[in-house]
Amino acid sequence: MADSPYIAVLHGVNVNMLGRRDPKHYGTLTLMELEEQIAEWAAELNLEVGFMQTNAEARFVEHLHGASDVYDGLILNPGAWTHYAWAIHDALEIAALPAVEVHLSDVRAREPWRAVSVIEDLCLLSVSGKGAEGYRLALERLREELS
Ligand code: DQA
Repeated sequence: MADSPYIAVLHGVNVNMLGRRDPKHYGTLTLMELEEQIAEWAAELNLEVGFMQTNAEARFVEHLHGASDVYDGLILNPGAWTHYAWAIHDALEIAALPAVEVHLSDVRAREPWRAVSVIEDLCLLSVSGKGAEGYRLALERLREELS
């Protein structure tokens, strides 16, 4: 049997603080609990997943530079970088991998500045406001793309 596609789930700034952030927007799961849930869904879809979280934009960008050597697809929740970090847009363009953007909260129903995404034009799908479930939808979309 061919190897399972390998998906990177990249979490950006402040996402490590889940569990201590406003539950109205972000739910109550910690990042570790969220990643356990994502790993279960991935296994059901015969996908392998690797996780990375950083609060350093340079590290996020550098991870994207090396991504095409390692992964078959990407799920990104860059946190607030989503709304202004054009360097992440450019690094994602360089990665040139199928990508899905996920936000736990409904970014379009919050402050106007959160409605901007610098990565959505490079993503197959953008999911927001569905909590952890958004990651399952992202995995399903990548499964379809990589079949
Ligand atoms: C977020 C939404 C962003 O606006 C915010 O800055 C985050 C998390 C989300 O998952 O809903 O840190 O990406």
